[in-house]
Amino acid sequence: MDPKLQIRIQRYGWDAASGAYEESWRGPLLPAQRTLLEAAALAAGERVIEAACGSGLVTREIARAVGPSGEVVATDLSQAMVDLTARGCAADGLGWVETARMAADDLAVAEGRFDAAVCALGLMYVPDPRGAIRSMRRAVRAGGRVVATVWGQRRNCGWAEIFPIVDARVASEVCPLFFASGAPGALGGDFAAAGLGDIRERRQQERLEFPDARALLSAMLIGGPVALAVKRFTPEILAEVEAEFLHSVREHRAADGRYLIPGEFVTVAGRSA
Ligand SMILES: C[S@@+](CC[C@H](N)C(=O)[O-])C[C@H]1O[C@@H](n2cnc3c(N)ncnc32)[C@H](O)[C@@H]1O
Repeated sequence: MDPKLQIRIQRYGWDAASGAYEESWRGPLLPAQRTLLEAAALAAGERVIEAACGSGLVTREIARAVGPSGEVVATDLSQAMVDLTARGCAADGLGWVETARMAADDLAVAEGRFDAAVCALGLMYVPDPRGAIRSMRRAVRAGGRVVATVWGQRRNCGWAEIFPIVDARVASEVCPLFFASGAPGALGGDFAAAGLGDIRERRQQERLEFPDARALLSAMLIGGPVALAVKRFTPEILAEVEAEFLHSVREHRAADGRYLIPGEFVTVAGRSA
């Protein structure tokens, strides 16, 4: 896909998803975000830049970890997401967080300004993930850490049929390379190619819990990456998509109506030389 088109789809897609994102995904993404924060091993007083911060779920934890003597710059492609992060941090009294709209592969900050750069579940949407990792590496000082978490392999993510089901009804693929970074060795290889060393990779299997079909459909169709495409569906097409997706995950429905869907994540940490 043309990178400019991908950027437009992502920017306005996540603007559309922003209102439903945090409510839908806070629980299911928590274990992966915890792994990222553990790998980043942030200390009080550190300076951290975050790429693809979304609504600020990880940003607020970063801000608490570095404390008021630290510095946090949270960035995202979507202005609606940046605004949510700014509001959430202000509401939680985390006044040392700065926010800015920036693409992950073009972080406009002084070279070497940060101790760590992190990106939780954002690289799957970036046209050039290696470019984003290079941009994060440039932002950190010598010896600084770069940490990213992505979804793992397609076959280990029970919800993955959402993409072909939606793509069958729109003109272009919504997330063409979504699972590319989750292949064995792929993200670690991207870190090495970006000039990072001391690379550590952790693959993590989880069950993503959604309380019922409505919550699952809201996460998948309204609060996630296909939100823009879904907004254009007629009520009839939307009903078809919902039914087809629920059919694709039927084996993960518990007797009480909850959905417990397998999800795999990969977290890679590296160090700038
Ligand atoms: C699944 S959300 C993750 C948000 C947050 N990091 C979290 O863990 O909750 C993905 C985010 O990536 C952002 N994004 C997509 N493409 C991007 C790009 N090229 N540069 C920066 N952010 C991007 C979206 O706007 C969205 O907020």
